[in-house]
Amino acid sequence: MGQQSRLPSEHPHWWRDAAIYQVYPRSFADGDGDGTGDLAGVRARLPYLAELGVDAVWFNPWYPSPMADGGYDVADYRGVDPLFGTLDEAEKLIAEALGLGIRTVVDIVPNHVSDQHPWFRAALATSPGSPERELFHFRPGRGEGGELPPNDWVSEFGGCPWTRLPDGEWYLHLFATQQPDLNWAHPEVRSEHEEILRFWFDRGAAGVRIDSAALLAKDPALPDFVRGRDPHPFTDREELHDIYRSWRAIADEYPGERILVGEVWLPDAERFARYLRPDELHTAFNFDFLARPWEARALRESIDGTLALHAPVGAPTTWVLCNHDVTRTVTRYGRRDTRFDFAGKTFGTPTDLALGRRRARAAALLSLALPGAVYLYQGEELGLPEVEDLPLDRLQDPMHLRSGGTDPGRDGCRVPLPWSGDRPPYGFSQAPAEPWLPQPADWADLTVEAQSARADSMLTLYRTALRLRRTEVALRGDEFGWLPSASEVLAFRRGADFRCVVNFGPRPVPLEQEVLLASGPLTADRQLPTDTAVWLRVG
Ligand code: GLC
Repeated sequence: MGQQSRLPSEHPHWWRDAAIYQVYPRSFADGDGDGTGDLAGVRARLPYLAELGVDAVWFNPWYPSPMADGGYDVADYRGVDPLFGTLDEAEKLIAEALGLGIRTVVDIVPNHVSDQHPWFRAALATSPGSPERELFHFRPGRGEGGELPPNDWVSEFGGCPWTRLPDGEWYLHLFATQQPDLNWAHPEVRSEHEEILRFWFDRGAAGVRIDSAALLAKDPALPDFVRGRDPHPFTDREELHDIYRSWRAIADEYPGERILVGEVWLPDAERFARYLRPDELHTAFNFDFLARPWEARALRESIDGTLALHAPVGAPTTWVLCNHDVTRTVTRYGRRDTRFDFAGKTFGTPTDLALGRRRARAAALLSLALPGAVYLYQGEELGLPEVEDLPLDRLQDPMHLRSGGTDPGRDGCRVPLPWSGDRPPYGFSQAPAEPWLPQPADWADLTVEAQSARADSMLTLYRTALRLRRTEVALRGDEFGWLPSASEVLAFRRGADFRCVVNFGPRPVPLEQEVLLASGPLTADRQLPTDTAVWLRVG
């Protein structure tokens, strides 16, 4: 068993089994006391991430942005929003993190820009038919006076994805009105993004996370949507693969394995795997696993499907339970319906948080024991619940705003982290400034400080599990095999001497081997109770 940790220089294929921590900069830590998280806050907390034992950090967008969609409306891809700091600080942050063995992955948003981006402002300043407008999807409307949108598509955030300008033309935005879609058939759009990739790789980024990666290419005719018609007018189109092959060639020019990570939400698993062919993206988020209910059969099916899909293309699997777009794990697992589905989000769903936390602990050991890379969203290691009682007038997410208030939106999983102390802002901010989203009054037990002191806390569980993930040789390789078990139990081995057992059923499961780590207490006679996972050493 090797005890040394994997420093960047020692692990060239770092991304194949990395633990990647997602920082939502607005809510991680506030260094300048204005109530919004920033790069100074992250730099001050790098030792926390090093101690947690993660290999890389993926940062949600830190670029200049009017924040109509939490920074996914980018006004300048080569800068840092003054709310978060400066480009110089971002460069320092990347270097300092690497000094602690942590690589940086930045978020690239190629499908759309902010309506404040110079390209879009220039397009608005010109007339219909101008070359500036060709970088986007401008069209005349339908109907006698052009008063109807050019087609019948629906925005990813609900409602019409077209907005009409005073000059009569409409522009396409698959997300919010403030996020005009780029025209990826235009060579300048392609070359600009290739330069943006180089810009961040030149500054030491070890990878890019590609936002909405399956949406960039559109049918140039922008036809009405016809259910089942292939190809889809704006999702998963063939042209995308050529784009990502050119990006891969750029990433491969750089030393140290710079990676492309795709946000590819596709129901068809085989279509998904095509993005992971050897000359395209390195990895993509496993949303199938994330969306599954807390049930042995469903999760086993997802694990099998994932392994079977990735093997032929040679890409490592990834395991994801949560991110900045979805309901936090302890809340989701504490409900009657434990699946994740954007369409199923409603206010006032009954939740048993103690049950959810118990399951989330077991899910952590399950996902951290599977072969491949794992993503961890800030606050997951603290077992934070979704904050469901934010005052309605504080909600900012366009998903909520565009739904007419029926969709709770995604603010509840973006509440600033609690670091210390017994009341808001819990050390998130050093100044009295109120955090940009209010924190609950009952988070004193969930702070990093409180959890560091407790052997049975979620944070201690994650720290221990991440340490073992580095030191247990069996957890590094690809070797994986199911072990015989009851249908309500998942049991698998990694290598010859490591096992993971998760009990989803009501009957306790006897354990024969040495327990390395358990997600919760065993029964008095050393059996594994319901909703509990355990890591075992054989021999
Ligand atoms: C991705 C991001 C999400 C954002 C959307 C539009 O899905 O994860 O937060 O709202 O793209 O950029």
